[in-house]
Amino acid sequence: MTQRVAVYPGSFDPIHHGHLDIIERCCTLFDEVVVAVLANEAKKALFSPEERVAMIRELFPGRTQVRVENFSGLLVEFADQAGARVVVRGLRAVSDFEYEMQMALMNRRLNPRIETVFMMPREDYSYLSSRLVKEVCALGASLDGLVPPSVLARLRERLVPRGAGGEGARR
Ligand code: PNS
Repeated sequence: MTQRVAVYPGSFDPIHHGHLDIIERCCTLFDEVVVAVLANEAKKALFSPEERVAMIRELFPGRTQVRVENFSGLLVEFADQAGARVVVRGLRAVSDFEYEMQMALMNRRLNPRIETVFMMPREDYSYLSSRLVKEVCALGASLDGLVPPSVLARLRERLVPRGAGGEGARR
């Protein structure tokens, strides 16, 4: 039987609960979900591609349905090599739509065999972005329920100055 493989690409700098919600939704529809982490030197990221992959892999121990890889170059080429016919993107709000449509149509032009499928994350996460997660963490406020504890620990290590993250720090 043909395996239904989907690629879920992104920067994931870092992964948050909105992303995880989409991955779980993909798992109900596809046999394999390849989380494809963009390794793009031009885009200044907080975490290296290897760190981002490691952080995501840690969240799916023993889950063979979820594979996590770095990619560079064209997404449709990566998807083709992964044996995927579907690229999944999360849509949070109308503001995401224009950029997502441009990417989906360009990807269709580059490889018409690959379809982009949009999924809406749970409403509670519709405002969540990696950029805001980093900003809120750097300012010492709580990210409870927005990122997994292992990701929060890594964010604090990287963003909260030593001595500022202990007891008494704003949460
Ligand atoms: O989470 P992001 O940063 O919005 O993800 C963007 C991503 C990785 C999906 C996009 O930048 C991408 O696909 N990059 C690969 C380069 C590519 O294929 N470009 C041409 C198609 S638009």
